[in-house]
Amino acid sequence: MHRREFVTSCLALVGTAFRLPRLPLQADWKSWRVNAARVNRWLSELSRFGKNSEGGVSRVGFSPADVEARQWVMGLMREAGLEVEIDPVGNLIGRAAGSEARAGPILFGSHIDSVPNGGNYDGDVGSMGAIEAAATLRERGYRSRHPLWVTIWCDEESGLTGSRGFLGELSAEELARPGRDGLPLAEKIPRIGGDPAKMPLYGHQKGSIAAYVELHIEQGGILDRTGMTIGVVEGIVGIRSWDVTITGFANHAGTTPMNQRRNALLAASELVLAVDRIVRARPGRQVGTVGRLLVKPGAANVIPGEVTLSIELRDLSMEKLDTLWSQIHAEGERIMSRHGTTWSPAPRPTNLAALSDPAVRAVITQAAQNLGLSTQIMPSGAGHDAQDLARIGPMGMIFVPSVKGISHSPQEFTRPEDVENGANTLLQTILRLDQMP
Ligand code: HGY
Ligand code: MN
Ligand code: MN
Repeated sequence: MHRREFVTSCLALVGTAFRLPRLPLQADWKSWRVNAARVNRWLSELSRFGKNSEGGVSRVGFSPADVEARQWVMGLMREAGLEVEIDPVGNLIGRAAGSEARAGPILFGSHIDSVPNGGNYDGDVGSMGAIEAAATLRERGYRSRHPLWVTIWCDEESGLTGSRGFLGELSAEELARPGRDGLPLAEKIPRIGGDPAKMPLYGHQKGSIAAYVELHIEQGGILDRTGMTIGVVEGIVGIRSWDVTITGFANHAGTTPMNQRRNALLAASELVLAVDRIVRARPGRQVGTVGRLLVKPGAANVIPGEVTLSIELRDLSMEKLDTLWSQIHAEGERIMSRHGTTWSPAPRPTNLAALSDPAVRAVITQAAQNLGLSTQIMPSGAGHDAQDLARIGPMGMIFVPSVKGISHSPQEFTRPEDVENGANTLLQTILRLDQMP
């Protein structure tokens, strides 16, 4: 048993010893609602950190904007009556004690880091919604049976770093490996208050939580198109990605004949098209993307000698991702030999696909329908920390519409009333889960 869980259970025991009478559940709990104005105000206040000229946000994990925003969010969590801790990975965990000693914690939260030039709703809605739900429960004097933990994961966008660390899955090798910005996680985690030295002994095991629920914007356009209000997530895609370096030979663009070139960019171009062709060639919802590409030396009169690019594949089936990759790899070999170039695809950490828990799905659906909201079961094409938490306990996700299905863009938008609907569904879901036998 981890030191922290030991402490938590002691506290609960003390609670039992001095048996604070468990207040009868206020009969009107089903009518409890979040403070919609407050949660939407918090969302707009959060968008200040890393704001950019296009009205979006660049609050990349561990950046100064991320560091500042996390400080501000900790203030909100404390105002909501939570006891806030920064875990060794840098995740913010805000705790409210439960009345039943052996009840595992119910976790709910999301992330506040963004992609470069992203939007103000991805992760933010779930994070502000979670703190709002905790604040509302406190204002209602609700004494939960389970400990309630609000979790603001760190560095979600570069591969679910925070939640994988929460499970103790960040290896020493990964902590030491330079990231895309050239800096290792071990150097960046202390910026947000984490402590890599403590990580070897840190990690939450299977069965150590009662449930995890994440509110999030859909990011796709299904709900916006169908007019449904709440998405009940069935499963979250698995993500496999690679950093690829293609090496040719940089030479003079004027004096090198066309048939004596080892042009890394030509090979890269064919590889980009091959990824698209191979992924489209079979039925299904799988997707494949080359989102980053850098040419060296990058001068008009020099034949490209090196190209670095990223390849990312997603689907609910990890087997399908393996098959797609073996096809892409075989084609890549052929392309390289055609152009006299070489390549080295370096795999990045894999995000395993995950199914939500049927019982949690049912509770979310019931909560939403009791609020008079329409619901739709759907998959998530985006990755989320929830897919990691699913490995240690029952997981559920609540989606709210993204206008026009735009995300990872300054034009990302979710209406205030949908933020409210999502936060209310989260609040009522937590209440129901807490009362489940
Ligand atoms: O990439 C994703 O799917 C998520 O937004 N992190
Ligand atoms: Mn997200
Ligand atoms: Mn995202």
